[in-house]
Amino acid sequence: MMQTKIIKLKSLEDKYILDTLKDAIKKNELVIFPTETVYGIGADALSPLASKNIYMAKNRPSDNPLIVHIASKSDLDQYVKNIPLKANQLIDAFWPGPLTMIFDKSDLVPYETTGGLETVAIRMPDHIGALKLIESCGPLAAPSANISGKPSSTEFKHVFNDFNGKVSYIIDGGKTLIGLESTVIDVRDQVTLLRPGAITKTMIETVLEEKILDHSKDRPTDLVLSPGMKYAHYKPLGNVTLLKGDVLKVLQFLNALEEDIKINQCIITVDDYAQIFKDYKVSLLGKISDSKEIGHNLFSSLRLMDEWAIEHIYIYLNETDEYSQTIMNRLLKASGYQVIDFS
Ligand code: TXA
Ligand code: MG
Repeated sequence: MMQTKIIKLKSLEDKYILDTLKDAIKKNELVIFPTETVYGIGADALSPLASKNIYMAKNRPSDNPLIVHIASKSDLDQYVKNIPLKANQLIDAFWPGPLTMIFDKSDLVPYETTGGLETVAIRMPDHIGALKLIESCGPLAAPSANISGKPSSTEFKHVFNDFNGKVSYIIDGGKTLIGLESTVIDVRDQVTLLRPGAITKTMIETVLEEKILDHSKDRPTDLVLSPGMKYAHYKPLGNVTLLKGDVLKVLQFLNALEEDIKINQCIITVDDYAQIFKDYKVSLLGKISDSKEIGHNLFSSLRLMDEWAIEHIYIYLNETDEYSQTIMNRLLKASGYQVIDFS
């Protein structure tokens, strides 16, 4: 075990601290940092060994490519072969921000970072601390800072639990603003959505003034465009079932469950149903009308299930708007597509 040092976000204003972090990155060490979406586990994006260290720490399959994080729009052309016009429109509209784009990679980016692919995913995060770090350390390859298969980390305690003793530094930025990972799109040919995020398909289509393709709903068994899609995701230790539809039918279903399930179960749902599920242990995500708040709290709630050692996790949520489809995308994966629809 190595000793992990904790750094306060404010310390990134200190040149000495930034230089220390830069030295660590140059030595292929790992630095966990907050972004506006989730925490990332960062390393030198241009070093094959650094990327290998990320895969090892996360226990991540090495064919699942990493996102390269940059601190300035003008850095992009070093790492990609060409920037399509549509990508430039989206950069103007959404960078810095939770939008990751896939390009043909330049020779500077090693295959270890791209999981062996000729393409590279790039994003410029909208987070002052992350930008400071990247500006001083160079481009950082950074997947979400969770052990592979677990929910992403949105709080300091999540990354501390998963990575204390496995990384050199953790920058403590409190709870992340958005709480769901960035939108991922391929911009090389026809613009294609691979993973929904806070930047929705409609927002992208509005900027481009055209419809885009959507592969974000592909199941792991379908043609896999984004290598990450085929692996288990966001899984707490307990069994997760997603419930949809009529709330009273859901209540009836829960009431009828066997006693040995009821003994160790929890219901994750919205504040509005607290009263209806008053006889059950619940974790509340926010108001039904506030999808952003629900997204902000989702991974904290999933991780709470492990803290409470819950065996049977029922999530009751319905789609209300486009943002909640992003949330549903994560929930489908968390449940391994175990859905019971009561509508
Ligand atoms: O919000 C985020 O994007 C966070 C923060 C830390 O920036 N990062 C993140 O990274 O979520 P990760 O590695 O957990 O998810 C990256 C996703 C994976 O599904 C991966 O397969 C996909 O992007 N991806 C990366 N490079 C790709 C490529 N060249 N082609 C297709 N998919 C790619
Ligand atoms: Mg991830």
